[in-house]
Amino acid sequence: MFIYPNKHKEEGLSHNPFKAIVSPRPIGWISTCCSDGTLNIAPYSFFNAVSEQPPMVMFCSAPKKEKSNDKDSLTNIKETGEFVVNIVSYALRDKMNISSKNYPKGVSEFEMADIDLAPSRTVKVPHVKFAPASLECILWQIVELPPRSDNLSTSMILGFVNGINLDESIIKDGKIDVTIYKPISRLGYSDYAKITELFSMPRPE
Ligand SMILES: Cc1cc2nc3c(=O)[nH]c(=O)nc-3n(C[C@H](O)[C@H](O)[C@H](O)COP(=O)(O)O)c2cc1C
Repeated sequence: MFIYPNKHKEEGLSHNPFKAIVSPRPIGWISTCCSDGTLNIAPYSFFNAVSEQPPMVMFCSAPKKEKSNDKDSLTNIKETGEFVVNIVSYALRDKMNISSKNYPKGVSEFEMADIDLAPSRTVKVPHVKFAPASLECILWQIVELPPRSDNLSTSMILGFVNGINLDESIIKDGKIDVTIYKPISRLGYSDYAKITELFSMPRPE
């Protein structure tokens, strides 16, 4: 079968397969604050590490549905130049999901999802206290991607990792053991995966 992007229905597929094909995608659970100090958190699965040296990450913020304005995470990063990427363990899955709801301004996702926070060391934005790891980030650049058919654009936010918070209970023999916290990742549709099993494959000489 061959399909052109967004033409899946013509080939008998009920849903767009793009996100299911590009899976699993790690989830960046992004905490930010706006200039008046109001805190915000939301998950983003168009997220990844993009460079080891310097350590850098990116995530992409699509325009708000039926509105042309930015999502709150992007608005806050534009104001403060800072954000934190919190890693989502299987235990945190429900809190992450609750925090994705588009709450009216003034309603705190942290209260709605009962998320505990801890102060960060290198940025003003706090991190999720019980996240297995969180990355304190400084904005490098925002790239506006080409417009969609409705003329609105997705923004790609790129940042430097300035500090790393680690829960020491996930470290075994000097290495992080992901099977201890089982990071979750986004698949297509409403599906997620959790990492419970590893295999190692040394690279060829
Ligand atoms: C697992 C998951 C992944 C998501 N990934 C993205 C994404 O990559 N880009 C995006 O714009 N929205 C994504 N969303 C939707 C946002 O989390 C949602 O629009 C949220 O309300 C944005 O919050 P904010 O306005 O506080 O930034 C995702 C939602 C979930 C549950």
